Amino acid sequence: MLISTLLWLAVCCGFAVSEHRGNDTVKETTQMTHPLLLVSFDGFRADYLKMYPFPHLQKFFSDGVLVDYLTNVFSTKTFPNHYSLVTGLYAESHGILASRMYDPQTKKNFTTADSDPSWWDEATPIWVSVQNSGYKSAAAMWPGSDVKIHNSTATYFFPYNPKVTFQERLGNLTKWLKDDPAVRFAALYWEEPDHTGHMYGPDNTLEMTKVLKEVDNNIGLLMEQLQQAGLWGNINVVLTSDHGMAQCSQERLIKLDSCLNRTDYSVVDLTPVAAIIPLNNVSRVYSLLNKCHTHMRAYMKADIPQRLHYKDNERIQPIILVADEGWTIVQNGSLPRLGDHGYDNTLPSMHPFLAAHGPAFRKGYHLSSFNSVDIYPLMCHLLGIPAMPNNGSFVKVRCMLVSETCADLAVTVGIVIGVLIVLTTLTCLFRLMKSRGPSPSRPFARLELQDDDDDDDPLLD
Ligand SMILES: *[C@@H]1O[C@H](CO)[C@@H](O)[C@H](O)[C@H]1NC(C)=O
Ligand SMILES: *[C@@H]1O[C@H](CO)[C@@H](O)[C@H](O)[C@H]1NC(C)=O
Ligand SMILES: *[C@@H]1O[C@H](CO)[C@@H](O)[C@H](O)[C@H]1NC(C)=O
Ligand SMILES: *[C@@H]1O[C@H](CO)[C@@H](O)[C@H](O)[C@H]1NC(C)=O
Ligand SMILES: *[C@@H]1O[C@H](CO)[C@@H](O)[C@H](O)[C@H]1NC(C)=O
Ligand SMILES: *[C@@H]1O[C@H](CO)[C@@H](O)[C@H](O)[C@H]1NC(C)=O
Ligand SMILES: *[C@@H]1O[C@H](CO)[C@@H](O)[C@H](O)[C@H]1NC(C)=O
Ligand SMILES: *[C@@H]1O[C@H](CO)[C@@H](O)[C@H](O)[C@H]1NC(C)=O
Ligand SMILES: [Zn+2]
Repeated sequence: MLISTLLWLAVCCGFAVSEHRGNDTVKETTQMTHPLLLVSFDGFRADYLKMYPFPHLQKFFSDGVLVDYLTNVFSTKTFPNHYSLVTGLYAESHGILASRMYDPQTKKNFTTADSDPSWWDEATPIWVSVQNSGYKSAAAMWPGSDVKIHNSTATYFFPYNPKVTFQERLGNLTKWLKDDPAVRFAALYWEEPDHTGHMYGPDNTLEMTKVLKEVDNNIGLLMEQLQQAGLWGNINVVLTSDHGMAQCSQERLIKLDSCLNRTDYSVVDLTPVAAIIPLNNVSRVYSLLNKCHTHMRAYMKADIPQRLHYKDNERIQPIILVADEGWTIVQNGSLPRLGDHGYDNTLPSMHPFLAAHGPAFRKGYHLSSFNSVDIYPLMCHLLGIPAMPNNGSFVKVRCMLVSETCADLAVTVGIVIGVLIVLTTLTCLFRLMKSRGPSPSRPFARLELQDDDDDDDPLLD
């Protein structure tokens, strides 16, 4: 009886753990009726949550999900990471590698004000897929949402203008969501706390306290507006960011002019990840850069570490320089800003947070981390649309969802071990009793002997 109960438990746990392997396309139709809002607060470093009070954000995730940090993509810059969030691709695969790029094929230069679709067309952002599935999308200043990627912008969008307030972005986005039920996906972008982080550096607690209070108030406003529009509780909301922020200093400058002549190279992007085109002897330029500074690494394109996923693209220049955390690369001059990002994506200071709330999400659930590229398959799942090929994994995020049965791994392992111990003990006890017990009457002795021959010997040995 006990054994069968325990076995039943073990089988159930096994099912719970493997259930997600089922067919994703047959999801409850109820999920299709909930729109999804993705919000990015630029430069919201994960550990700000441990250092500053966030009463509104706390309220948001206490009734939802909190993920301590995301491992974002290299380079940890705004444009590459915002495009990774909506494509699930590493920078080398979506083609937006930095805020300044050079394309050797078209011989064009990219800046963030560029609206030429060719920069973005290597990938398909989720809003385009949403529209291809027959729904509509809305975006408020999300990078790329005003560009005609694969011939279309978001259905509703603003041309980028940093002067438009958070209130206006939120107000208009909420109106689109409320007035047009065909809008399934909405994206909202806000420049803070990135802007303040660059200006004063994340170590300036006075300025950071002020701006993070504003950000938290904006989260409060967001919940309030969604409530007023009758959407709160019916809409799935994901709050996240693109990257963190590191403190820089005039004492941590790497001056290229002290290592080589400007006529030796041209620079496409400078700090903290420099993209360098050598103009004469490549190996000489590389060797000068390689020994330039102990806090800067130089890589020939072919030798860029695989783990950065920052190699396989035409727009990666022949030489890449990567500064250590908090160091700034300049040609010759003073520190451009007190805070910066773009550094190695394994650095905790570069990691953003994530919080989620809505009918699809568990309440009061906590996860330590996953990759920022995993958000894309999560969103496609929530929207019930097919995902484009991507570098994310739904398995890593699925436990955030109420629809997924998720056994706690520790509990599962504990139960399985417990079952094994009980089974072993019972078997031993059984054998012990059997070997001590009086022999049954003759007719059974033979049977028992056969039994022993067939099954028991291996167990006894
Ligand atoms: C999932 O189910 C749908 C509908 O039943 C079917 O068309 C599709 O082929 C299935 N996909 C997989 C991967 O099993
Ligand atoms: C993009 O739109 C233009 C006209 O606006 C059209 O000529 C072209 O065929 C479209 N391209 C694709 C791939 O849909
Ligand atoms: C937001 O909506 C209002 C009212 O329709 C409109 O006047 C305003 O221009 C919109 N804002 C932006 C940035 O488009
Ligand atoms: C760098 O700047 C300093 C001060 O502005 C100047 O004295 C020095 O000559 C410059 N070095 C180079 C290599 O341009
Ligand atoms: C830079 O150019 C000057 C003058 O042409 C030359 O003397 C010097 O050796 C060069 N420095 C390097 C590092 O190539
Ligand atoms: C692109 O940038 C490079 C390096 O900064 C510069 O030399 C080149 O003139 C620029 N090309 C165009 C078309 O602006
Ligand atoms: C390039 O520079 C290296 C030294 O760094 C030198 O050995 C080599 O001869 C140079 N090649 C050319 C073509 O100048
Ligand atoms: C990322 O995904 C793209 C699209 O499927 C694929 O081409 C690329 O090889 C993937 N990158 C890695 C490192 O797996
Ligand atoms: Zn940013």
